[in-house]
Amino acid sequence: MSNLVVVGTQWGDEGKGKIVDILARDADVVVRFQGGSNAGHTVVTDRGTFVFHLIPSGVLYRGKLCVIGNGVVVDPAALIEEMDRLEANGVKIGKNFAISQRAHLILPYHKAIEKAAEQSKGSRRIGTTGRGIGPSYADKMARIGIRAADLLNPPLFRTKLEENLGEINTILERLYQVKGFHVEKVFQEYMEYAERLKGHIVETSVLLNRAIDRGQSVLFEGAQGTHLDVDFGTYPYVTSSSAAAGGAATGTGVGPTKLERVMGVAKVYTTRVGSGPFPTELTDEVGCGLQERGKEFGATTGRARRCGWFDGVLLRYATRVNGLSSLAVTKLDVLDGCKELKVCTGYRYGGALYKEMPADLQVLSKCEPQYEVMPGWTAATTGVTAYKNLPVQAKRYLQRIEEMAECRIDMISTGSKRSETIILRNVLAPARTRPKS
Ligand code: GDP
Ligand code: IMO
Ligand code: MG
Repeated sequence: MSNLVVVGTQWGDEGKGKIVDILARDADVVVRFQGGSNAGHTVVTDRGTFVFHLIPSGVLYRGKLCVIGNGVVVDPAALIEEMDRLEANGVKIGKNFAISQRAHLILPYHKAIEKAAEQSKGSRRIGTTGRGIGPSYADKMARIGIRAADLLNPPLFRTKLEENLGEINTILERLYQVKGFHVEKVFQEYMEYAERLKGHIVETSVLLNRAIDRGQSVLFEGAQGTHLDVDFGTYPYVTSSSAAAGGAATGTGVGPTKLERVMGVAKVYTTRVGSGPFPTELTDEVGCGLQERGKEFGATTGRARRCGWFDGVLLRYATRVNGLSSLAVTKLDVLDGCKELKVCTGYRYGGALYKEMPADLQVLSKCEPQYEVMPGWTAATTGVTAYKNLPVQAKRYLQRIEEMAECRIDMISTGSKRSETIILRNVLAPARTRPKS
């Protein structure tokens, strides 16, 4: 038995989907613990390319239990669309799929409030995915949220909806001058969703803990990344959930003593979608090159991702706040052909050198990254599956990442396909360990 939490170490889109898909082969259960359909996790297989927004990336294997934990906010329309798309592609979604009764729902008014609030913020907008994530989590904390369990209790659902819309329609109409919602229309729409989803809505904490007690392996799939975490990220330019490893416990009902290991996924460079500080951002042709070669366009919104050099300060922070036990580094192939590479080892601001992430957003926005220059490599690394076959400069670059992150690398991704991976140590199946040479 072995349980593993997988989290993003940067600002999301690190390649968590690919890594979770590979690890899921050796797991019994895969559970999402936070976020919602703001996530876009891409998995490339022989059967085609799948983009997951809510359903855990382990669903492509038969016989795995896939769970949406209580920490996730569920948009039922987005979920049903995803289920339909998967089933149309031959992926069965049956008894193997469970949604926590305690997961909060996204309602149409969450998206409307988010859109209006983002518009009114102007240049201070967060640049959200527009999926209603922030307002749904805000309702959860304000104790007015509507949960998956409420879908199974129509009178209670209607009462909560009526109470909420009374206030929300006033805000929408008076403050933002946009049209409000009809209780009956939203109620009927959600009762249709309830009909489709009711067989999957259960007490998932019991399922997960029983699986662990039986000696099964549980994989906890994080969405977004450490620097988008509502506590540890570049607040307020963050998402509204606990994307760091601690969220795996609160978002599933599995206690921290049972989580065991935490793997951080890191790109060998850095990207960010939406607004907010990004010290190593490249706005020149080098950044454009990374964006083009890395196909850095969002899997959820299609927006271009901002690109920049690898940032060791971000990574060391991620090691600390997540308690990382290992790293999976991705997209090594995207750096093929770069003459030289820069890695950030600290930030300079106002005559001081910062080796740790400053909490002050003004410092982070205005700091100058301190770089170390490293030689690049010309040989292609795409599809390399053995560490020994990597160019010596690529090995040195990876070793430097390990040093800066203060965390060992267990997996190296050299392309988007499952097979394009170097597995140095399979954390869920120790027998398959391969030596580094
Ligand atoms: P996630 O949100 O962390 O799951 O990451 P995304 O799926 O949003 O973005 C990662 C993108 O990079 C996807 O299109 C993957 O197919 C792709 N990808 C993953 N690993 C590699 C890699 O090693 N090399 C290349 N070239 N692409 C990769
Ligand atoms: P995955 O799981 C990258 C970003 C948005 C925005 C901020 C808040 O694919 O890595 P939100 O809609 O969550 O309120 O937006 O967070 N963001 C992501 N960026 N990858 C993601 O998910 C993201 N999910 C949210 O761009 O800046
Ligand atoms: Mg993504």
